[in-house]
Amino acid sequence: MRKIEVPNTKAYRLIYPRLVVLVSCIDPATKKPNIITIAWATPLSMNPPLAGILVAPRRYSHELISSAREFVINIPTVEILDKANKCGRFSGRRHDKFSEFGLTAKPAKIVKSPVIEECVAHLECKLVDQLTTGDHTLFIGEVVAAYANEGAFDGQFMNIQHVRNFYQVSNNSYTTLNKELLKPEL
Ligand SMILES: Cc1cc2nc3c(=O)[nH]c(=O)nc-3n(C[C@H](O)[C@H](O)[C@H](O)COP(=O)(O)O)c2cc1C
Repeated sequence: MRKIEVPNTKAYRLIYPRLVVLVSCIDPATKKPNIITIAWATPLSMNPPLAGILVAPRRYSHELISSAREFVINIPTVEILDKANKCGRFSGRRHDKFSEFGLTAKPAKIVKSPVIEECVAHLECKLVDQLTTGDHTLFIGEVVAAYANEGAFDGQFMNIQHVRNFYQVSNNSYTTLNKELLKPEL
């Protein structure tokens, strides 16, 4: 098979599509919450439970997460695709994304940032470290509480028959899983 060259600076696109998450955060001074859409989120450790998000320094959320030292990773589904997309197109510097896009801020269990009620799962994180990775900052959060809608999580993994997560394909396109469950031979 002939392979085509990919510019090194676009190589990250070979690791797409990527699950889209909504990260909620808070301004510790005014208590005003914000939401940022994130495609670059990853588990980092099982025990201790650590999760990472990569945020560009120019984002308003970068300021909030650095100062509040916490954030919540919320898992959206296709039912709120338009709202999630808007949260990734407008800045909280000039917009109240919860009220303008019709998303509900609900108190979290441990952290001060709210969870997004319309999402099906939530990982409350306290910032334990941050690392500059080129043009992004890796925020490393320790998961201090995690919960999911009944039916969305089967006790071990996300229930893909019930929950339609979506994945970013390109700048302005998304896809879902076709629910095919593959069980490879050992
Ligand atoms: C699908 C999608 C994925 C995105 N992923 C990231 C990401 O991983 N990291 C990042 O810094 N920005 C990402 N963005 C851009 C931010 O969400 C966007 O700049 C947002 O408006 C920032 O909001 P804020 O200024 O209120 O923090 C993404 C946008 C979209 C639409």
